[in-house]
Amino acid sequence: IDIILLGPPGAGKGTQARRLIEERGLVQLSTGDMLREAKSSGTEMGKRVAEVMDRGELVTDEIVIGLIREKLAAGGKGFIFDGFPRTLAQADALEALMAEMGQHVDAVVEMRVDDEALVARISGRFTCGNCGEVYHDVTKPTKVAGVCDVCGSTDLRRRADDNAESLKTRLMEYYKKTSPLIGYYYAKGNLNPVDGLADIDDVAAEVAAVLDRIP
Ligand code: AP5
Ligand code: ZN
Repeated sequence: IDIILLGPPGAGKGTQARRLIEERGLVQLSTGDMLREAKSSGTEMGKRVAEVMDRGELVTDEIVIGLIREKLAAGGKGFIFDGFPRTLAQADALEALMAEMGQHVDAVVEMRVDDEALVARISGRFTCGNCGEVYHDVTKPTKVAGVCDVCGSTDLRRRADDNAESLKTRLMEYYKKTSPLIGYYYAKGNLNPVDGLADIDDVAAEVAAVLDRIP
């Protein structure tokens, strides 16, 4: 099965994607992670997108569609699209790319969280630079301060775009360019809203229920 996790910044897409990797053996395709990788490895593309990302604006459709096309061309199935598509053009491109492979997106999970909660989540977030585990100062701290529970690394990081100013821009970009996808997928009969405000385990259960309904 192939699914899309759709939701505003901080909705918990990455957190749920990691659960699905572990529990269902799915493969996460996060355009945010791909772009951050390009940024830190200092490629031409990485340099071009760095400032755009740090400001909280969307990177061009051309670049992100190119990244996804490359990953899909490498083969495999059972994808979790995390943070992609984010515009109607990206949604159309994904549909075309999947159709070329004789596949289609089975379900779109829309994670609903209100703005107030998003600000609290983003401002407390940190991640492990080694294994990618996502933490939160209040809702998901590490067991030992400064040490990743999963891999023991002390390389815990905060993102350059997780500040109040960039978050405001990220939310505006979401409402302007990404939220129209809710209607797009609803019209296709593919939309499955879940309550993203619930505890991580409860959200995971709701997501699991959506996956189990896929024929
Ligand atoms: P991206 O990396 O995709 O970031 P985002 O969409 O802003 O999403 P986040 O990673 O911030 O949040 P999340 O929903 O994964 O939440 P998380 O699980 O971490 O994109 C970054 C940038 O890259 C974009 O701004 C853009 O510039 C560019 N980009 C990426 N894709 C693009 C595309 N397709 N087109 C154009 N540009 C693109 O959780 C957040 C926090 O909350 C964590 O601390 C977590 O521990 C906590 N938490 C999670 N769930 C819960 C819960 N249920 N209860 C309590 N706390 C929780
Ligand atoms: Zn780790």
